[in-house]
Amino acid sequence: MTQRERWSSKTIFIFAAVGSAVGLGNVWRFPYLAGKYGGGAFLIPYIIMLFVMGVPLLIMEFAIGQKMQLGAVGAFKKIKRKLAGIGIASVLCGFVVVSYYAVVMAWSLLYMFFSFRLSWGADTKSFFFNQVLHLSSGAGNPGYIAIPIIFALVAVWLMVYFSIWKGVKSVGKVVMITMPLPIILLLILLIRGITLPGAGEGIIFYLKPDFSALLDLAVWRAAASQIFFTLSLAFGIMIAYASYQHEASDISKSAIITALLNSAISIVAGLAVFSTLGYMAVKSGIPIKELAASSGPSLAFIVFPKALSLMPLAPLFAVLFFIMLITLAIDSAFSLVEAASTVLCDNYPHLRKEDISFYVCAAGFTCGIIFTSFAGLYYLDITDHFITNYGLVAAGLLEIWAVVDFYGAEKLRGYINEVSDIKIGKYWSIAISYIIPALLLVLLTTGIVSDIKKPYGNYPQGAIFCFGWLVLILVFTASFLFSRFASKTNDGKINR
Ligand code: ALA
Repeated sequence: MTQRERWSSKTIFIFAAVGSAVGLGNVWRFPYLAGKYGGGAFLIPYIIMLFVMGVPLLIMEFAIGQKMQLGAVGAFKKIKRKLAGIGIASVLCGFVVVSYYAVVMAWSLLYMFFSFRLSWGADTKSFFFNQVLHLSSGAGNPGYIAIPIIFALVAVWLMVYFSIWKGVKSVGKVVMITMPLPIILLLILLIRGITLPGAGEGIIFYLKPDFSALLDLAVWRAAASQIFFTLSLAFGIMIAYASYQHEASDISKSAIITALLNSAISIVAGLAVFSTLGYMAVKSGIPIKELAASSGPSLAFIVFPKALSLMPLAPLFAVLFFIMLITLAIDSAFSLVEAASTVLCDNYPHLRKEDISFYVCAAGFTCGIIFTSFAGLYYLDITDHFITNYGLVAAGLLEIWAVVDFYGAEKLRGYINEVSDIKIGKYWSIAISYIIPALLLVLLTTGIVSDIKKPYGNYPQGAIFCFGWLVLILVFTASFLFSRFASKTNDGKINR
């Protein structure tokens, strides 16, 4: 039996967990969702979901990983053999996410080079759609592969691979830089943003609550799925990371620090983005609401470059912004790979970690190629919607079911309190046994019904099926089949 790898200190574990949580989800996804759902209208459900669901689930994932001392598959298998597939569902959801996540990083890498000369010119939309993506006329027309994006994607995957090839040890070193650096850059951009004329208008749009929007279930669904995405929940990551902690390490404090720091960074990123957008609204005469709502996943690549080029010292701030995006994203991307390679290492201890990581990276790159096609942006938008709204939520529900029905919420709470400084009350058990599952079931079913009634984003049904439903069917069928298989094999291999 080989000794399990360990984080070199508790601080490194928290750095790695925060590094995984803080990523494109904070600076790319959170601001565009806030813009799409009306700024302040999104912030309230987001904060409610953070406390009601995010923090309790993060505590649960840390506890399961640490208690079982195994990645997601082994951990659920240890609870009950036939539950192994739950870990597979989580890891596969994470794998799907990283395949397109790396493509967004590839766009960011290209934009970092474009920033030196502000190559996007005045029409940033046409530049992004026509010259970078070569965006086709619709999701039914995939066109070809955008060559510069593929090259950038190779570079991104090499960066990811070399960050993790030596396992926890190299991750520990890389996160010492990739966690604090983008936060410093973000603070610089925040100061720049809030001191621009018009910033106030953007900030008001972003922070002014709109209570009427609370009646719209779509906003709640977006907030819940964003909490899963941003806290790296139901990806198998936090379970894998916690499994490299000693069994007696603190849980609740680490989870609370990770969750609060992550959301604080999202909120600060929102301030930086919306203050800059406010400036742009004043300069261009386009209302902030229109600017924020119109661009969806392209916000960081259309609206932001435009806003950046209106600033004094534009190339400098543009380069800083894209370096920030890449460094923020890299530790999230490699954590997604780590979740998969931890599971594979648990199951195949005779294979070298660096080989396993290489295979996972190669597979992630291959699956991501489709998102570099001329219709890649459409496919990315569809896959992101389905995997976060349904994949992560369903995997999260299955994790909860395993813990509550097979391990015991109170038993897990007992363990958490035994090792943690901050004791969690009975509320936690009630939340994960009743409140969170009920909430997630409502959001999941209403979401599915609404997507069946009206195709998401008005994309053609064929594209919705291939990049949405089919991806989900494959993920959950694979996990079901794996569960059947796992319940017939012996456990010896995973007890490292
Ligand atoms: N939690 C990661 C992010 O927010 C996946 O980008």
